[in-house]
Amino acid sequence: MNLEKIMESVEFVKNKVKYIPEIGIILGSGLGDLAEEIEEKICVKYEDIPHMPKSTVAGHAGQFVFGKLEGKDVVMMQGRIHFYEGHPMEVLALPIHIMKYMGIEKLIVTNAAGGVNKEFNPGDLMIITDHINFAFTNPLIGKNDEKIGPRFPDVSNAYDKDLVELAESIGNKLNVNLKKGVYVMMTGPTYETPAEVNMVRILGGDAVGMSTVPDVLVAKHCGLKVLGISCITNMAAGILDQPLCHSEVIETSNKVKSTFTSLVREIIKNI
Ligand code: HPA
Repeated sequence: MNLEKIMESVEFVKNKVKYIPEIGIILGSGLGDLAEEIEEKICVKYEDIPHMPKSTVAGHAGQFVFGKLEGKDVVMMQGRIHFYEGHPMEVLALPIHIMKYMGIEKLIVTNAAGGVNKEFNPGDLMIITDHINFAFTNPLIGKNDEKIGPRFPDVSNAYDKDLVELAESIGNKLNVNLKKGVYVMMTGPTYETPAEVNMVRILGGDAVGMSTVPDVLVAKHCGLKVLGISCITNMAAGILDQPLCHSEVIETSNKVKSTFTSLVREIIKNI
């Protein structure tokens, strides 16, 4: 989407929100409740914003929530747009660009993911150190606008090292046993086969999910610093002798909610 169209969406939001948010937070499946803790809340539904598609997934509300948390001006995405919903990758860029041109400098992306690393357990939180793009497409394909970012963005430090360190130190302080690892995006909406999960492990993946990578590529392109946190809601297919289902994902993220909330709040406070 060109900058002119992006700014139409931004202008719509700016008419409702009169201050500049500093941090954006994308809340993954089952983790949307953190937005309820925001003070002086202003909600802007995706469907009301020009050019924004709707989010259709259970467990995702589908709105931006602006306001204050830990004394900082923030904007949260309560629900994200997924590639598997059938939107072109390009459309996934718009909410990130809206947050960018509302003024954020840092983005915290969170998601629910399947554990591929056998040392992990459901309920673990994993700081993302890098990713592998197994969607085999990219939201930046198409005409590049140099005003937004370069044609060939460097993603050798996609997940900001200082933010990873900050998250780790806060994990220690709160006594949360944080894992670290590589997130692999598959398109979904099917969960992976056991053979695919094996492949992901052999290729260096620690967790697998259906989101985040497009968000992070767009964020890096437009110059945002990114921190990624996965909630390991289940062991990926074939590791345990049991089928996977979305209700299990939501159930585990609900159980981890209070740890996740204190971790993210403390990160926001110290960022
Ligand atoms: N695979 C892909 N996406 C997921 C999973 C999984 O096992 N769990 C939660 N999101």
